[in-house]
Amino acid sequence: MRAATLLWLLQLGCADLVPRVVIVTTFPPEFARWKRLLPLDEELPFPGGGGSTSLWWNSELHVLGMVTGMTSKNAAMSVTALGHDQRFDLKKAVWLLAGIAGADPEAGTVGGAVWARSLVDGTAVKFLDPREMPPAWPTGWLPQHRAAPYGQPLPSEAERQQMVVSLNPRLVQWAYKLTQSIQLPDSEALQHLREQYHHLPAAQSAPAISLGATLSTDVFWTGSFSASWARNWTTYWAGGRGTEGVPQFAASAMEDFATAQALAALQRLGRSRGPEALLVLRSTSNFVEPPPGRSPEPNMDFFLEVACEAAFLVGEPVVKALVRHLASQPLKWWRRPLTPASSFVPAEK
Ligand SMILES: *[C@@H]1O[C@H](CO)[C@@H](O)[C@H](O)[C@H]1NC(C)=O
Repeated sequence: MRAATLLWLLQLGCADLVPRVVIVTTFPPEFARWKRLLPLDEELPFPGGGGSTSLWWNSELHVLGMVTGMTSKNAAMSVTALGHDQRFDLKKAVWLLAGIAGADPEAGTVGGAVWARSLVDGTAVKFLDPREMPPAWPTGWLPQHRAAPYGQPLPSEAERQQMVVSLNPRLVQWAYKLTQSIQLPDSEALQHLREQYHHLPAAQSAPAISLGATLSTDVFWTGSFSASWARNWTTYWAGGRGTEGVPQFAASAMEDFATAQALAALQRLGRSRGPEALLVLRSTSNFVEPPPGRSPEPNMDFFLEVACEAAFLVGEPVVKALVRHLASQPLKWWRRPLTPASSFVPAEK
């Protein structure tokens, strides 16, 4: 009895599994390659998650993989459930969200991949139907606490922090440098699609890896007006423009901002390093607007497997490099305060 109590006390605060990397995907097709090829072969039940699927574990690499379920609520629910799961100690983990997204043809092409520098929220929005809004407005989507689209004054720093998460620039830059010259698969079908995007050099170039902002909404939107809104909204909140003078908006997704918010809450509880230890990789399965001269359709040309393949090809070397780096960290790290970001950015080769 006493021995059992002692054992219990020893186990308390000393979780079994200490992931080095947590791979976050949002629905099963995104997860399939990680499970089969990394591999993630040990099944761990996870009834509290939003994705209604198990967690999967690789005990050699100490890598955990999850499927959150799509949309911001499932992402937040799953990351939070995992963060409070007593089987894991996640204080050391780096998180990689690797999912598919819609590409802005002004910023990239289908089959490419974006390392997110910032995550912008597009769910906390006021909406007037365009048929009822003032005729001079370009959109019915408004910021909260403003009376017009992109209303003045520009967001305060406090407002910005509610709507934008800037990821750890050193970690993002490291991941980008490690992967930027990876050759991504191309095909005649992709070429045929992108040829239709006249005058948009980014859309017409071969699939490549880039940096940019992702916009998270719970709506599968498509069309030129929405794309224009996404660019403007991203600039309004994330400020300025990208280094090349183009809007920072690169990819349209659902779960990025909510995942970062859930990690920030776990950080406040001392259970994770928060968004500072988060990488978001979005490979692109479709364009967010039709080619010039065509109307949007509910089902745009959609390259699911191409995008899932790209996410794995770009994400896997980053996971392996993080594992190598984190494996060489001191074992009794949990006795120390959470270490600063610089300690988990592997040195440049
Ligand atoms: C985006 O901003 C541009 C430049 O201010 C404007 O012309 C356009 O109408 C805006 N688009 C939307 C949909 O808000």
